[in-house]
Amino acid sequence: MRVIPSIPEMRAQVLQYKRDGLTIGFVPTMGYFHAGHIALMELARQLTDRVVVSLFVNPTQFGPNEDLSRYPRDMERDTRMAKEAGVDIFFTPDANELYSKAFSTWVNVEGLSEHLCGRSRPGHFRGVATIVAKLFGIVQPDKAVFGQKDFQQLAIIRRMVQDLNMPVEIVAHETVREPDGLAMSSRNTYLSQGERASALCLYQALCKAETALKTEKIGLETLKNAIEGVISAKPFTRIDYIFIGDPNSLQPYDEDGFQKAKEVLAALAVWVGKTRLIDNMCFTKQPH
Ligand code: PAJ
Repeated sequence: MRVIPSIPEMRAQVLQYKRDGLTIGFVPTMGYFHAGHIALMELARQLTDRVVVSLFVNPTQFGPNEDLSRYPRDMERDTRMAKEAGVDIFFTPDANELYSKAFSTWVNVEGLSEHLCGRSRPGHFRGVATIVAKLFGIVQPDKAVFGQKDFQQLAIIRRMVQDLNMPVEIVAHETVREPDGLAMSSRNTYLSQGERASALCLYQALCKAETALKTEKIGLETLKNAIEGVISAKPFTRIDYIFIGDPNSLQPYDEDGFQKAKEVLAALAVWVGKTRLIDNMCFTKQPH
């Protein structure tokens, strides 16, 4: 595995791959790898000839009061894990090289950014879409793999690629979970032992929603209350949002829309102590 810290070097490597007729798979990350990241790398490995993984903790997607400075980092461990996952190029660009003082071009994906995390993290998806567009410009991948754990991010990147005619195929990977069901996240390392136990409520609430949708004809408010009940029963928790809506438009359902819907996205953001966790599941509704 080659570690490439500079943009010109990365470009030269990409050019060489293209000359050699090799396809490029790309996994953008912010590091502190867990099994979710590794699964994405392994999928890219299966789909393309060469795998590029980027590690960049992107400042423009963090709000002023968010966790940019304390975001977990471990370059040595990440390098080792990427190598073991069969990654060819580990691209670790520098913030000053990516964002010059004069930087002033932003990618705004409207509509899809309106609800869920877009509402509680203003500017977040502008930062995500912009950095991913920049990385696509440098790496020029044939395929790029994203996790369904960040459902809204995935939808926004798909929209951006279509709207801006970017020649890359977006591939989704399902959410990778801990044995007890907690969605893997670099932020799980912030949790104390007690908080870790409470954090399971996101998964439990989604499982409860799934069962409710399968077994009974349920109203939208009753469903939301059931989810809320599971979460608020646990110490350290505070709900940021419970979203029940359309998985394509990412617009929330009203009661009528919910009753008619075939597909339902349930997505949650919950503060557990000082850590904000997200999770989601997509359901096909059974007729009752
Ligand atoms: P990061 O949180 O490091 O995630 C990198 C990729 O791993 C994303 O596509 C994310 O959806 C995926 N991922 C994270 N946890 C996962 C899990 N438990 N199961 C499956 N996939 C998972 O997402 C970002 O970084 C950034 O926003 C980025 C796209 C790199 C732009 O800065």
